[in-house]
Amino acid sequence: MLSSLSASILGTGSYLPERIMTNAELEKMVDTNDEWIRTRTGIQERRIAGPSETTSDMAAAAARAALENAGIDAQEISMIICATVTPDMFFPNTACFVQTKIGATQAVCFDVSAACSGFLYAMEIARQFIASDPSKTILVIGADKLSTIVNWEDRNTCVLFGDGAGAAILRHREGGRGIITTSMGSDGKLNNILYTPGGGSAAPTTLENVSQKLATIHMNGRETYKQAVKSMVESSLQALKQADLTIDQITCIIPHQANLRIIEAIATRLNVSLNHFHLNLDRYGNTSAAAVAIALDEAARTRNFQRGDLILLVVFGGGLTWAASVVEW
Ligand code: UT7
Repeated sequence: MLSSLSASILGTGSYLPERIMTNAELEKMVDTNDEWIRTRTGIQERRIAGPSETTSDMAAAAARAALENAGIDAQEISMIICATVTPDMFFPNTACFVQTKIGATQAVCFDVSAACSGFLYAMEIARQFIASDPSKTILVIGADKLSTIVNWEDRNTCVLFGDGAGAAILRHREGGRGIITTSMGSDGKLNNILYTPGGGSAAPTTLENVSQKLATIHMNGRETYKQAVKSMVESSLQALKQADLTIDQITCIIPHQANLRIIEAIATRLNVSLNHFHLNLDRYGNTSAAAVAIALDEAARTRNFQRGDLILLVVFGGGLTWAASVVEW
């Protein structure tokens, strides 16, 4: 890999809405209980955005924190890529709203749709742009307001999700390897184990479709669980192989935050201690595209990453989609 074409992480930021929804609160909404949620998922509470707080509001807040952390001005941003499945609107894209909110007037803006895998897809797109034009500074965001597409009467799904946003700023850094490699994959055949059937061109927003709750998350939990473990283990191993590294050379693993049992299963299969994983799903639940971005920001701050540390990020989501990246800090 030519070091002159690398894309390094210059800074990170995240944003979580203030309002905390506890498991006890969910007990009053559906037939569930704190013990089931904690033991089956590891989640204790999640954050829920305010009614007028949009995905781009959260994304812009995370972006501002990332700009501050990187020590750069919004005017230096040449591109904004926002990964989301809960855009403010079908169009304009959410990245355009963020551009206005943070004043990044020089940026080209677009969204990426890859569900919970979106942030790593967007990071890899950014890396490719920087590889062909090292003068670019790219703001990558993962942001979702899943509370707007959750069926709050479905105990199989409503206990799992939360809202939030995370951001990273990528730029070439002389001598740094940055994103060393990414392994990505998709399987459209399994599109119906985790999806939102309504609200798009297949089942547009009609009164009937809305009353059937088609525009909410539908999930086959067990099948999704199986696929999540399989694809995150395989893509992690593939990324390590591509980087010519072994798991014991990795300082910290940052996985998609869907279910603690999924992460434990990955740890067992990769033969690595759970302490190597940065976890925050107990506090935030599954925030979709934001999850790994928030965890990256949190880990960078609390685990005191040093230049040269090797980080493995690994994600899985609807599509199906999955990805794993090895990043040199
Ligand atoms: O971002 C990626 C997206 N999502 C994921 O990665 C999620 C992957 N899947 C999972 O995390 C797990 O499959 C779940 C947490 C969703 C479910 O856990 P599980 O151990 O696979 O449970 P299950 O679906 O097999 O259900 C076991 C029982 C069922 O009752 P019966 O049929 O055994 O009587 C469910 O109806 O648990 C019941 N159940 C609940 N009980 C209390 C399902 N949801 C709840 C609930 N509270 N919230």
